[in-house]
Amino acid sequence: MKTLMILGASYSQIPLIRAAQRLGIRTVAASIPGDYPGFQAADDYVYANIVDADAITEAARAAGADGIATCCMDTGLFAQGTACSRLGLIGPSHEAVRLCTNKSLMKEAFVARGVQTARFRKIHSEAELEAAMRELPFPLILKAVDQMGSRGIYRCNTPEEVWANYPKTMSFTQKDYCLLEEFIEGILFGVEAMVKDGKPVFILPDGTSVFQGFTPTPVGHYVPAPELADVTDQIIQQVELVIDALGFDNCPVNCDFIRRGDKVYVVEATARAGATCLAELVGTYYGVDYYEQIVRLAMGLPLDPKLGGEGEHTPNLSHIMISRQSGLLTALNNDNPPAADILDLSFNVSVGDEIRSYTNGRDRLGQIIIKGSSLEACRTRLAQVLELITIEIAPQN
Ligand SMILES: Nc1ncnc2c1ncn2[C@@H]1O[C@H](COP(=O)(O)OP(=O)(O)O)[C@@H](O)[C@H]1O
Ligand SMILES: [Mg+2]
Repeated sequence: MKTLMILGASYSQIPLIRAAQRLGIRTVAASIPGDYPGFQAADDYVYANIVDADAITEAARAAGADGIATCCMDTGLFAQGTACSRLGLIGPSHEAVRLCTNKSLMKEAFVARGVQTARFRKIHSEAELEAAMRELPFPLILKAVDQMGSRGIYRCNTPEEVWANYPKTMSFTQKDYCLLEEFIEGILFGVEAMVKDGKPVFILPDGTSVFQGFTPTPVGHYVPAPELADVTDQIIQQVELVIDALGFDNCPVNCDFIRRGDKVYVVEATARAGATCLAELVGTYYGVDYYEQIVRLAMGLPLDPKLGGEGEHTPNLSHIMISRQSGLLTALNNDNPPAADILDLSFNVSVGDEIRSYTNGRDRLGQIIIKGSSLEACRTRLAQVLELITIEIAPQN
């Protein structure tokens, strides 16, 4: 029996564990100790810190792992790629994960390969910050280079805002530098892709629904995305350059993009499937279980030819339920009967929970995934589904 080590044991890894088990593969969840459901779900587990590449390499060797996978979060990505390189397993390489877990190295690699990306400066000091503000046009965006989920990232419209946010950015990062980038005002979108033996298996642009916080945060995705139809070729060309720039050879790919006018800019890219229901979106669109394809890739098994194939594609969308106010959750009811076109309708909160007004993905109330004959049909259906959900939040003093 073959063995797959899965990095992380939180809810986000459960679909990956289940997919491997369906394929008759033994799963070993690796994580620091904690009350994580993956320990129960997996066939076996080891306590190892998934940010520690040495610990994960040793754990994978000891477990006799034939593959290592993780999805939807960057936490284990560096260790995954490093351990795969050291143990000769199929996965992103050490070099690839080194680049995509540091936004500064990533941007330098983009520039070297000619990827269209916002202009930026690496900032080590207040003097460099001052100089960079004279070179780059406002609005700007300050970024911690080693965080995710918009932590340590602030849009700045004026020099005063830059000075106010700089210490905040530096307090988030482990590094002694950060990035200052030109803020591209435009339409946010994403791309999911998969690379096998250096070649893209599919490249799928998705539309992004956005919540405006300190930075725009995705609260939903949809395919197809009509607002991108006229720049599809440019998007595919940019994704191919990104794959080349970061040396992605065997991994899922998740990219953030912004469209301004007729030009698309790459914000960032990483060697894993995206969060916020993106694995479900890809799977539904191509009619495959995408988690299973991620496992197959890591284990060297053939992929489903429907992934990236020309066959019928299913429009679908995801919607993250959020609250614009903080308070106590006093009522939560879903009166939607189960239906074939509601692929998921689940909550992360229950009555009595304290709710925070939405700032990022950790504040979500729940999620809905809907498929339909067209994007329009999905949107109409989503509105109907939301009508039958009651969420009441009482302000707290
Ligand atoms: N140069 C930019 N111009 C405009 N918006 C940006 C830019 N860089 C990042 N953003 C916005 O900030 C969000 C977070 O930045 P990103 O670099 O993707 O970091 P994270 O790892 O936190 O996702 C992006 O999804 C995008 O909405
Ligand atoms: Mg991002």
